[in-house]
Amino acid sequence: MNSLKVVKLKAPFDRFISNIASDKSISHRCAILSLFSDKPSVIYDYLQAQDTKDSLNIAKRLGAKIETKNNKTTIIPPSTIAIPTDPLECGNAGTAMRLWAGFLSGCGGEFVLTGDKYLLKRPMARVVKPLCSIGANITDHRGFAPLAIIGNNNLKSFDFHSDIDSAQVKSAMILACIKGGQNSTYTENNLTRDHTERMLVGMGADITNIEDKIYIKPTNKPYRPLNLTVPSDPSSAFFFAVATAITPNSKVVLKNVSLNPTRIEAYRCLEQMGADITYDLKEDIYEPIGDIVVRYRQLHGITIGQNIPWLIDELPALSIAMSIAKGKSIVKNAKELRVKESDRISCVIDNLKLCGIKCHELEDGYSIDGGGMFQKATINSHGDHRVAMSFAIAGLLCGMEIEDTDCIETSFPNFQEILRELSCR
Ligand code: S3P
Repeated sequence: MNSLKVVKLKAPFDRFISNIASDKSISHRCAILSLFSDKPSVIYDYLQAQDTKDSLNIAKRLGAKIETKNNKTTIIPPSTIAIPTDPLECGNAGTAMRLWAGFLSGCGGEFVLTGDKYLLKRPMARVVKPLCSIGANITDHRGFAPLAIIGNNNLKSFDFHSDIDSAQVKSAMILACIKGGQNSTYTENNLTRDHTERMLVGMGADITNIEDKIYIKPTNKPYRPLNLTVPSDPSSAFFFAVATAITPNSKVVLKNVSLNPTRIEAYRCLEQMGADITYDLKEDIYEPIGDIVVRYRQLHGITIGQNIPWLIDELPALSIAMSIAKGKSIVKNAKELRVKESDRISCVIDNLKLCGIKCHELEDGYSIDGGGMFQKATINSHGDHRVAMSFAIAGLLCGMEIEDTDCIETSFPNFQEILRELSCR
């Protein structure tokens, strides 16, 4: 098991970062959606991290041919989906497990999806129940993976309302519907990230969102292939936004990041806390993409209770900014944090306390007193990449040792390289 020693920064930085990891959500969807076409999809900058390599490998096991040359990945779809005899490995990736469960529910055949020890503890009933209600046959283990799926290419039509705001649930239902279903609708309490809808529409699918109701009209014809460059992941870039927001006199330019409004809410919160942030839109094809410029300014506390799905992945990193901001910060309505790669409420709070930060765990979030000084500590990541990277950023203030850092490989393999460069003058 690897660990990471972070040394305290000796001077402010002024950086231009153009090698932030590619977007994880979009990369997973590239692997899956390319199977809805009969022509090769061409993807530039597919995220070469463990989670998304697992998704690509599943596409391969289902019969796709994958060619990778430099930053170009070509996914040649099979004419019919192959039925592997061994389980399909999702590793640590909840997105892979839940989205592939949706896709496979609409395919005739039997499939098993499994994952690592962390993924096997994450709730799957949220996709199993609605997929079974439309005619898939899925056997789980009391709500957990492995999932044994007997797909059905004649699924029932649905008008489904999800009580859980989850892009993974929404995507699973859309993928099942497109693969083997009938005209259907989907609603959720709060709009979640919408990459699945955007990308499918780009491929020619009939998916519309009218007054927050999603109408899905599948056709039997193959869609156009994908042809896209995956932008940088705003959740990965956010670690360096926070690094800048807590380091006096520093500035960073984060290049070619997805500016999808369902993904940059954490930057909006950091702005409300006082950071100076500007967005420079460069293109808008499947997604708005551009540069984010962050300049240090003194931060103050904030209460966050809305638009939680839009910043759920960034809350651990935001907690580092909240700890040094002047005044109290509160995060509420964020119970979903408890079922991420770790229980991110208790994991973040326990580790902040180890660093000498005054904070309190709430059932659906936490409160952080603010104005604190980080103390060097030994942090247990609990195998959670975002916890490991968030506390590595805190380490820029005082030094830090993070245990169990292999998980960083799941989303941001060159994180440590970029972190080290911040100290190079
Ligand atoms: C994701 C959706 C989010 C997010 C996860 C990626 C996706 O999960 O936390 O990292 O790609 O659809 P939920 O939609 O389950 O909240």
